[in-house]
Amino acid sequence: MNKKISVIGAGNVGATTAQRLFEKNYSEVALIDIAEGIAEGKALDILQSGPVLGLDNYINGSTNYDITKNSDIIVITSGIARKPGMSRDDLLKINMNIVSEVTEKSLDASPDALVIVVTNPLDAMAMQSYKVSGKKPNEVFGMAGVLDSARFTTFISQSQNTSVKSISSNVLGGHGDTMVPLLNNSFIGGKSLSESIKEDELNDLVDRTKNGGAEIVNYLKTGSAFYAPSASIVQMVDAISSDSKEVLPTTAYLQGEYGINDLYFGVPAKLGKNGVEEIIQYDLSDAEKEDLNKSAKAVRDTVIAMENLS
Ligand code: APR
Repeated sequence: MNKKISVIGAGNVGATTAQRLFEKNYSEVALIDIAEGIAEGKALDILQSGPVLGLDNYINGSTNYDITKNSDIIVITSGIARKPGMSRDDLLKINMNIVSEVTEKSLDASPDALVIVVTNPLDAMAMQSYKVSGKKPNEVFGMAGVLDSARFTTFISQSQNTSVKSISSNVLGGHGDTMVPLLNNSFIGGKSLSESIKEDELNDLVDRTKNGGAEIVNYLKTGSAFYAPSASIVQMVDAISSDSKEVLPTTAYLQGEYGINDLYFGVPAKLGKNGVEEIIQYDLSDAEKEDLNKSAKAVRDTVIAMENLS
């Protein structure tokens, strides 16, 4: 595809995303990291897979944003993970500063690019990126819901012995354990989950989805998930690059939708060449509305904590 994508942060999520984009025939990928040599080395390694795969695509890595010039899409994965002894606020402040810096530098080089934020805590980081970007709200958004829905679909598929292709699951809300899987608006072969799966079993699947990130961290001990996150990023990049108008769960800026104002939050959104082109609104049950409001409160609390730190 004749699009240039820049990935900021060449750690696990960023480098795997760059590899997937290269292998999906994006004509140019730029990989940036603050740590000298990391992006350069990983990009060169990916480039050298080209002859084996029969791909003439180009990927380059650097600490210098010059290589990102004229990107169509910027994917922000740079950040640090919480370390022992570090408070949530310490982490929030560090990642807030990283996201601000990389948003500004990326957009200086590519003023017309759309921005997909991936760094956690996702909803707050999307808000921060938007604030410093000077862009329209539809041009800055986050990846979380595609991953959360993919995890939910995986668990449903395993428990019901059904192809992932026959399952369409929908998860709304903040990225974290307050997310709201929509049981009347998620389907197996066209039949809603609440009609298809017994309540107890469904509750277990929902709980496992809510803790899907932590389950992987517990296995890995150091580091967090990156294969499914990078696949999820690429699905969003594909929808935008091909102007497909696909509806994907997206962390988008809400201005009254679902009764929520001035907050980045996970909702179904139509993605195309202009970024978030429409936010799809479902009729929710009273219980779902209540859960969504709780999730919005948790996200807003993080945003307020972040604002107090700046
Ligand atoms: N500019 C550019 N790169 C930076 C900066 C910066 N200011 N600060 C940190 N980085 C880089 C680090 O050097 C590191 O290579 O960001 C990279 C982060 O990589 P990992 O630590 O491997 O983290 P990863 O698993 O890729 O996750 C990245 O995505 O899913 C989220 O929670 C996850 O916030 C995390 C992000």
